[in-house]
Amino acid sequence: MVTESNEANLASSSDGTGIGVPVKRHPYYLKGLDHFDWGIKDRMSRIFDRTSGKTVMLAFDHGYLMGPTSGLERLDLTIEPLMEHADCLMCTRGALRSVVPPHLNKPISLRSSAGTTILTDLNNECILDAEEAIRLNASCMAVMVAVGSKFEALTVENLVRTADRGSKYGIPTLGVTAVGKELVRDSRYLSMASRVCAENGATFVKTYYCETGFESVVNTCPVPIVIAGGKKLPEKEALELAYNAINDGAAGVDMGRNIFQSDAPVAMIKAVRHIVHNNGSVKDGLDIYNTIKNEA
Ligand code: 5RP
Repeated sequence: MVTESNEANLASSSDGTGIGVPVKRHPYYLKGLDHFDWGIKDRMSRIFDRTSGKTVMLAFDHGYLMGPTSGLERLDLTIEPLMEHADCLMCTRGALRSVVPPHLNKPISLRSSAGTTILTDLNNECILDAEEAIRLNASCMAVMVAVGSKFEALTVENLVRTADRGSKYGIPTLGVTAVGKELVRDSRYLSMASRVCAENGATFVKTYYCETGFESVVNTCPVPIVIAGGKKLPEKEALELAYNAINDGAAGVDMGRNIFQSDAPVAMIKAVRHIVHNNGSVKDGLDIYNTIKNEA
């Protein structure tokens, strides 16, 4: 084992050229990605903070299947003030081009699958061209995967095709385990859906938190997991959700409605950040939320 720093080794090498000094290695800091390619790791490092190893992604891609849902009627008014506080923005190409200032230079999780809306059967989807992700400088391509639904095969194929193109161009693939009335969000289902995403090429997985057995969902998924927030909850419960998920091993959150539908969205995203990046308690998170809300 090398115990001295490389500089010390170099200084002590006989001729200062480094002969005999072991070459410095850079073990990768995210679970399961040691053997992935350079471009994938570079982009993942933009999404996940190098110090905490975690991420707070702001999801506002809901319009692609829900239309102008509550809080997303005017993305320029509600989402733009939140952007600077997120580690990564998850959105469609439409929202990206309309409201995300390119000079913000935020990593983008590009919603890369689209199809049916809430008016019909969800998850009958196609995928975007990878060239579009390259053009938009996306840090990852997010694809819905509906294990157990009638569109299971189609959505797994969408993931496989996206991961193929992602490997070709060095762009990570985010497997998003689908929502749907017929899909039960228990640890058995979430473990299976997350694992299917990872085995089929997802670089990381977005899924839901479950109160029982989430540790096992994380444990059996070989790549990082981030959780969606789901429907709007009272702020304390949403912070508890983030806290419990991080405590059980999640590598971050990809949260939408519990931030942008909050009555103090900036306060809420700052409180979530404290929990995710600083291992903060729910009480401290709630204090941050109330303090910033009352100042405003
Ligand atoms: C929509 C999505 C959303 O990005 C996801 O559900 C996260 O948002 P929320 O925290 O509101 O659930 O994948 O299809």
